[in-house]
Amino acid sequence: MSESIVATHYIDSDPDTIEENSKHPTQPVMHRIVHDMNRKFLTGSDATGFTARFQEGLGELCMGKKELIGDNWVLEEDLYTFFRHDLTSTVINAVFGTSILKLNPTFLADFWTFSDNLTVFMVRVPRCLAWRVYNARDRLLSGMKKWQEWANTQSNNVEMDKYGDEICWGSSFFKERYDIMSRLKGFDPVSMAAQELSFLYALNANAIIATFWCALEVFKNPSLLEAVREEVQSCTIPNQPLKFDTQRLLNMPHLQAIYAETLRIRGHGVFIRKADRDVQFHDHVVQKGTITISSSTPGHFNPDVWSKNQYPPVDVFWAGRFLKQDGDKVQFSKGGVEGSWLPFGGGWNMCPGKRFAKLQAIVTVAMLVTQFDIDVLASGRGIKMSMKSFGVGILGPSGKVPVRIRRRSNGTT
Ligand code: HEM
Repeated sequence: MSESIVATHYIDSDPDTIEENSKHPTQPVMHRIVHDMNRKFLTGSDATGFTARFQEGLGELCMGKKELIGDNWVLEEDLYTFFRHDLTSTVINAVFGTSILKLNPTFLADFWTFSDNLTVFMVRVPRCLAWRVYNARDRLLSGMKKWQEWANTQSNNVEMDKYGDEICWGSSFFKERYDIMSRLKGFDPVSMAAQELSFLYALNANAIIATFWCALEVFKNPSLLEAVREEVQSCTIPNQPLKFDTQRLLNMPHLQAIYAETLRIRGHGVFIRKADRDVQFHDHVVQKGTITISSSTPGHFNPDVWSKNQYPPVDVFWAGRFLKQDGDKVQFSKGGVEGSWLPFGGGWNMCPGKRFAKLQAIVTVAMLVTQFDIDVLASGRGIKMSMKSFGVGILGPSGKVPVRIRRRSNGTT
C-alpha cells in the first residue's frame, strides 16, 4: 500500500474523542465493550492511580538500586535486563497490583518468552516446533486465571489504596471488567484470562523496549545527556530528589524528541484491517471485505520527510529531527511529518496507552539520569536491532548491552 494511502487512512484521532470513535457500527458488541473500557481506563481519570503508583514504584526501585550500586563503577552484563526485569515488574505492580507476580514466580520470564516469540502464534508454528513458547503462554494464562480467581475471592475483604483502587485487583478496572466478562456470553475463565493477558502484553511489550532505547541513546551521547540533565534539573522538586514536576517534564523538548525519534526508528508495526465498505483511496478502491495490511515502516523511513535539509540518514537516530529553533529557544515539533509518524496506529484502534507509554519512558529516563552515571560499553550486536519480531511493534536489541554504572553522589542533576 502506498505511503499516501497509509497517511490518509491513519487520520490522527485523539483519544479524547473516544466517545465518538467508539460508535463503530460494525464492531461486535463484546469487542466494543472491551475497547471502550480500555480507553476509559487508560485515558480518563482512572489512569491517575496506576500512573502515581508507577512513579512511586520507580522511585523505590531506583533507591534500591542505589543501595546496591555504590559510588564506584560496577560492570553490568546487560542493561536490557534492568528494563525487562525491574522496570517491567514495577509497571505490572502499579497496574495489576503486587499479587500477580507473587502468586506466579515464573510470570515475568514467561512473559518475555511469549512476547519475544509472538510471531510463533501469528504464523501458527506447530506446538511441537515451539513447545517452549507454547508452554510459557500456557503458564501465563493459568497464572492470570489464578490471580483473577484469587482477587475475586478477596472481594469480601476489600482494602483500598490511597487512590481508591482495590489493592487485590491492583486497579479496580480489572474487577469491573471481570464482573462484566463473567456475565457476558462467550467468556469462560480461560478467555477472561486471555483478555487480560492481551492487556498486559499491550502494556509492557512496546513501552518497555522503547524506554530501554531512549535511555541507551541518552547515555551513549554525552551532549544529549547534558541537554537531558539540564531539562530534568528544571523539573525537580526541591528536597524531593525522586519526584518531578511531571507535566513540565513531559513537555521538555529534548526528552520528547528522543522519545519520538526512538519510536520512529525502532517501531515496526503492521496494522491489519478488513474494509467494512468500499473505500476510495485516491485513485484506488479497496473493496468491502478486503483484508488490508499496512505498515508504519515506509513512512518512518521516507528520506523525503526525515532526511531533508542534510539531516542524517533515516536509519540513524537523531533527536534533532523533532526539534526546531524558535529564537533562542529549542522546541519540540512534529510539523511536516504528519502521516509519516504512526507508532500508535490511528483511527478507531489507535493505541489508548500512548500517554502512559510516554510518561513511563520520560520519567524513567529522568530518574536514571539523575540517580546514575551509565557508561555504555556495548557496540555491534548490542546496539543493533533484532529483526526477529519485525511487524509486531518496537524491536529490541539483538545482543547484550554491557555497561558500567555508578550512583551519582548526591542524586541530583
Ligand atoms: C511505545 C509504546 C506503545 C506503542 C508503540 C503502542 C502501539 C500500539 C498500536 C500500533 C496499537 C494499534 C494496533 C492496531 O491498530 O491494530 C495499539 C493498541 C493498543 N495499545 Fe498500545 N502501544 C504502546 C504502549 C501501550 C501501553 C503502555 C498500553 C497500556 C497501558 C497500551 C495499550 C493498548 C491497547 C489496550 C490497545 C488496543 C486498542 C483497541 O483496539 O482497543 N499500549 N498500541
